[in-house]
Amino acid sequence: LNGSLAIVGLGPGPARWMTPEAMSFIEAATDVVGYEKYLDRIPHRQNLIRHASGNGIEQERALVALRLANLGRHVVVVSGGDPGIFAMAASVFEAIETGDPTWRTLDVTVVPGISAMHAVAARLGAPLGHDFCAISLSDILKPWTVIERRLIAAADGDFVIALYNPASKRRRHQIHQAFSLLRSRKDLATPVTIARSVGHENEQIIHATLADIDLEQVDMSSLVLIGSSQTRIIQRSGNSRWLLTPRHYSEVR
Ligand SMILES: C[S@@+](CC[C@H](N)C(=O)[O-])C[C@H]1O[C@@H](n2cnc3c(N)ncnc32)[C@H](O)[C@@H]1O
Repeated sequence: LNGSLAIVGLGPGPARWMTPEAMSFIEAATDVVGYEKYLDRIPHRQNLIRHASGNGIEQERALVALRLANLGRHVVVVSGGDPGIFAMAASVFEAIETGDPTWRTLDVTVVPGISAMHAVAARLGAPLGHDFCAISLSDILKPWTVIERRLIAAADGDFVIALYNPASKRRRHQIHQAFSLLRSRKDLATPVTIARSVGHENEQIIHATLADIDLEQVDMSSLVLIGSSQTRIIQRSGNSRWLLTPRHYSEVR
């Protein structure tokens, strides 16, 4: 039985941000496994069995996919953005690490996708032109003390910071705590952007500074980008602007 498993990144939203490789794996699949919201992006067709699941059960989803592939099916597990960034690739390899030894002989492919930070950066100009880091603010899978330590290190290391999973309807205090920490260690004039649902119809870009950002605007569909000491604003007409983090580093602060 020669099954296969592809862990495929769908990109952050529109079909045009899905790679041709991702599309061809989906076209060749017998089964597609994923969070129901992501499965909605996959066209229905005959001979494609859909295994939709709710949010927050990544490990079970990985097991379903591996068992199907082991039965000889051609399985695609989908993730939003890139499957390797806060997404399903890690869950699948975790399951392989501790699971049925025959899973190690499976044909497994990770198909890269455009991550939210790439799409957001492209919208804003060149905010990731120099060193940057990505931090998930979700403390469901790691303790808050670790997130705090990383925020401090990112601020003191003067990285541009991309915050994934910044807040949900119920999980609000983390974003407030994160910003009070960043405000205590960075210039208050640092550019900050909330980029919501980038690539979707309801896309929204909100420019602010570390001092005046309205954290109520931040939700689960947003990525929050915080500049380094070198990130500059190129003002355009109206409220429109580009962000630039130059490739050279001029001044140590
Ligand atoms: C569980 S993470 C998955 C990240 C995904 N694997 C990636 O590479 O983009 C979900 C978070 O990604 C960010 N995100 C995903 N799609 C986005 C979009 N279209 N616009 C802005 N942020 C997005 C948000 O911060 C959201 O809370």
